[in-house]
Amino acid sequence: MSTVFYITGTSSGFGRELVLDLVNRGHKVIATARSLHKISDLAGHSNVRTQELDLTSAPDVLEKKVAEAITLFGHIDVLVNNAGYSQTGCFEEVSDAEVRKQYDTNVFGTVSLTRAFLPYFRSTPSESTICTVTSVGGTVGFGACSAYTSTKFALEGFFEGLNLEVTMSQLPIKVLIIAPGAFRTDFIGNVQKSEKSLDVYKPIKDFVGSFFDQIDTTGGDCKIGAKLMADALLKEGFAKDKDIPLRLPIGSDAVNLPLDKFKRESKVYEEWRPFAAESDAK
Ligand SMILES: NC(=O)c1ccc[n+]([C@@H]2O[C@H](COP(=O)([O-])OP(=O)(O)OC[C@H]3O[C@@H](n4cnc5c(N)ncnc54)[C@H](OP(=O)(O)O)[C@@H]3O)[C@@H](O)[C@H]2O)c1
Repeated sequence: MSTVFYITGTSSGFGRELVLDLVNRGHKVIATARSLHKISDLAGHSNVRTQELDLTSAPDVLEKKVAEAITLFGHIDVLVNNAGYSQTGCFEEVSDAEVRKQYDTNVFGTVSLTRAFLPYFRSTPSESTICTVTSVGGTVGFGACSAYTSTKFALEGFFEGLNLEVTMSQLPIKVLIIAPGAFRTDFIGNVQKSEKSLDVYKPIKDFVGSFFDQIDTTGGDCKIGAKLMADALLKEGFAKDKDIPLRLPIGSDAVNLPLDKFKRESKVYEEWRPFAAESDAK
């Protein structure tokens, strides 16, 4: 039986490849984009419907989009919160307006859209899935793009909490977080640089800049990344017959960087346990 997916940000990168992978497997997709002309080729596929969607729209607009989307194939089984972009610049360089814009798309848009889906998913007897694409930067902070990584930390917190809420309330909803490492997509080309630039931060900006520059050659293949996402969502390939965990890394860097951080921090936590325990209730 085919599954119906609703995917944000399908004009390029992971979103686009995920649409193509899923329809090749015989599933149905509602592909969304800010500009429909960017996904006009996808619209020609019999298993694809397209919808114009800007995540920065007001919550009531997003609610209407969800209601309309449900009518396109009669139901939706899986929401994939994929759309996002990166604001770069050091903490002091990124303006309030730039931070707010970053949060409007990556966090508030994703949260409002998901909230709009929840009453529908709660009332649907079959299991639905809410999948959100975060980043290795949602577990490990990076300099010179802390506004971006902070949005991914925020999403991790929201969806880890939602997972507990739906599980303890025995709702027919599965929550999945996909945390990719560096992949070759349009992500780097779509980076928004802070207007302000301070020479004092040049070393960290050069370091992160050269890491970003390398992604086009050393980053993972987003076609394969999208295949792994589809495998996890459909319990196929490596994911067949497995319990899918709440959070799945994609790319070895998305495994190694958090593991290094956990190892470093667990040592520090153990060393400082007596300090923390001094304040325990006696
Ligand atoms: N590539 C990586 O190395 C990497 C690593 C970790 C996580 N990720 C995450 O993976 C997800 C997909 O990114 P990607 O790598 O595939 O980059 P991408 O090729 O730039 O795709 C990002 C998509 O998000 C859409 N988008 C941006 N702002 C939007 C808004 N306000 N409303 C609706 N859609 C919007 C873009 O659409 P437009 O055409 O309208 O701009 C585009 O389709 C993002 O959440 C990103 O943070 C990427």
